[in-house]
Amino acid sequence: MAVELTLVIPTFNESGNLRELVRRVDAALSGIAWEMIVVDDDSPDGTSALAKKIAREDPRLRCLRRVNRRGLAGACIEGMLASSAPVVAVMDADLQHDERILPEMLEKIRAGADLVVGSRHVAGGSAEAGFSPRRAAISRLAIRIAKDALRADFSDIMSGFFMLRRQIVEDCAPDLAPTGFKILADIVASAKQDLKIEEVGYTFRERLAGESKFDIKVGLDFLGLMLNKASGGRIPVRFIFFALVGLSGVVVHLSTVYLTLALLPITFTVAQSIAVVVAMTSNFFINNTITYRDAKLKGFWRQLRGLLYFYVVCGIGAVANVGVAAWLYRLYPEVSLSALAGVLMGSVWNYALSSLFVWREE
Ligand code: GDD
Ligand code: MN
Repeated sequence: MAVELTLVIPTFNESGNLRELVRRVDAALSGIAWEMIVVDDDSPDGTSALAKKIAREDPRLRCLRRVNRRGLAGACIEGMLASSAPVVAVMDADLQHDERILPEMLEKIRAGADLVVGSRHVAGGSAEAGFSPRRAAISRLAIRIAKDALRADFSDIMSGFFMLRRQIVEDCAPDLAPTGFKILADIVASAKQDLKIEEVGYTFRERLAGESKFDIKVGLDFLGLMLNKASGGRIPVRFIFFALVGLSGVVVHLSTVYLTLALLPITFTVAQSIAVVVAMTSNFFINNTITYRDAKLKGFWRQLRGLLYFYVVCGIGAVANVGVAAWLYRLYPEVSLSALAGVLMGSVWNYALSSLFVWREE
């Protein structure tokens, strides 16, 4: 029987959950021709080896082992693209998602829906058990932002549990962002057609084994994605972060000027020069942790070399900034316009050259 439904299971350190997952899915999907693709980012706990071991016993299972890469969204995308079934579903490996609603979701697709979302926020759904109060609040806030940014009108756009016609992903795959958790929001925003979306409620359970990979970086990814969509996809997420870090640099700069002037017997010019170096240094390290976290420079010597390159890039950027501002000011003697144009020129320069030389992909 040809496979009708591919379950895509992204994993990172989920070896404690895999066997139970397969057992429960098997029980829930009796009578349906399904397969499962586990997409593992080379988990140190050996999830992929275990998945392949189970696959030798049960050919409905396959494992895609990705190396030197991390990212929930990217794992989901590659899993869905590895399917040839008409319908694909994404579900977490930790059993927080209730596999027993899968048949009802599939029924809705068969009846004409394009996308069915497992929702914690419709009748029959709840998120209490699986979330701490703090995490539940973050989730609610994210849902509001996403709904506004995407003008999408369904209740659990943050869900990591959904089923859709594979063709929808095939069509928009090149536009999807591979980092972060918000794959569903991204698909809805990037779909090439109007989607008929339905929801099925379920109770978000507690994780069986292991721990959550949700962290501050995941939150940042989400923020970047929403800003990118709000700009119609025209501004790259990385540049948005780069610019925000630049803004933080202004704060660092001003604080350093005030602080050094208050504490040390130095002139303004010296304080200003110290602040330039301090701000560039802080920008470098924040960019290394956040903006370029996927290409992060590690180790003392690599970071030192990166920092020196960053000084050079920013130095030339400052010259470009002043050059453009002065040139514009001669054409239109308008202070804020010229100054802003200079800042924009400098930021784009810094961003482009940092991406090329400081955090170049090796
Ligand atoms: N391949 C891969 N790569 N898988 C990953 C990665 C990664 O970098 N990060 C996480 N995963 C897998 C986990 O192993 C798990 O199967 C699933 O993705 C969800 O990760 P969790 O760490 O359990 O996420 P959560 O429970 O905190 O978040 C849940 O709720 C969010 C909505 O509020 C998930 O369902 C998210 O998908 C959802 O967006
Ligand atoms: Mn989870």
